[in-house]
Amino acid sequence: MSAPVLSLRAVAKSYGAARALDGVDVELHRHEVLAVIGDSGAGKSTLVGVMSGNQRPDAGEIAVDDRPVTLASPAVARSHGIASVFQDLALAPNLDVVENLFLGAELTRGRLLDEVSMEKQAWELLGQLAVRVPSVRVPVGALSAAQRQGVAIARSLLGDPKVIVLDEPTASLGIRQTAEFLTLVERLRSRGLGVVVTSHSLVDVHAVADRIMVLRLGRVNGEFDASVATQEELLAAVTGVESPGNGAVRGGGAR
Ligand SMILES: Nc1ncnc2c1ncn2[C@@H]1O[C@H](COP(=O)(O)OP(=O)(O)OP(=O)(O)O)[C@@H](O)[C@H]1O
Ligand SMILES: [Mg+2]
Repeated sequence: MSAPVLSLRAVAKSYGAARALDGVDVELHRHEVLAVIGDSGAGKSTLVGVMSGNQRPDAGEIAVDDRPVTLASPAVARSHGIASVFQDLALAPNLDVVENLFLGAELTRGRLLDEVSMEKQAWELLGQLAVRVPSVRVPVGALSAAQRQGVAIARSLLGDPKVIVLDEPTASLGIRQTAEFLTLVERLRSRGLGVVVTSHSLVDVHAVADRIMVLRLGRVNGEFDASVATQEELLAAVTGVESPGNGAVRGGGAR
């Protein structure tokens, strides 16, 4: 199998006495969806923070395409091809879809994009991701939670990342919207991205994940091939009631 696009080795992070992450190993490949599940306080957001350059680990190594990197900031992470979308989405509600997508993008590309081509690109990108909006000229604040999330994810793709990291993407979505979101994740995977999604729900991301990593109290408490893992096994790993059963695999390369 090819080298992981993103790998973490023995990553640790504490907040005072609280060990948010303790000896965490992660391997993510292109064309792979890794779900990170765990109870509240398990360390999911901290892990996403470390992967996205928002949190500096106290210890451990991070590599992108087998090259060691220091993800000192979100901008540095993006420069290594790691995009992230957090629950707050960081959109400007009063600005329309095109403005949110291309805000700042003109500068990073060193040229000014004209309105017509920006609108065209906006429609193309949203279409590729199966995100349906009534117009790309409506303020983002008028869209549904799922549509806003689609816009935020589309925007993160403009830098052509290799990896996209999403923290609790289904938390604010209804059942139908969650199904739409899972379609979007499949589109991301088919574009060749490595995708990390966290969830405190056992069911939301199971269907779309290739592998499921369970965090419990800052440690990896099981790693599962999503196609064979049962809800009972996952629940046991999340709660620590019993050791993981048949579906458990350790390390990458479950598929
Ligand atoms: N900025 C912070 N300052 C102090 N402690 C923190 C901070 N961020 C996280 N923690 C602690 O680190 C641990 C892991 O928190 P984290 O937010 O990563 O968990 P989580 O799995 O994302 O939980 P949730 O499902 O509630 O989002 C918890 O004990 C939490 O209280
Ligand atoms: Mg969290």
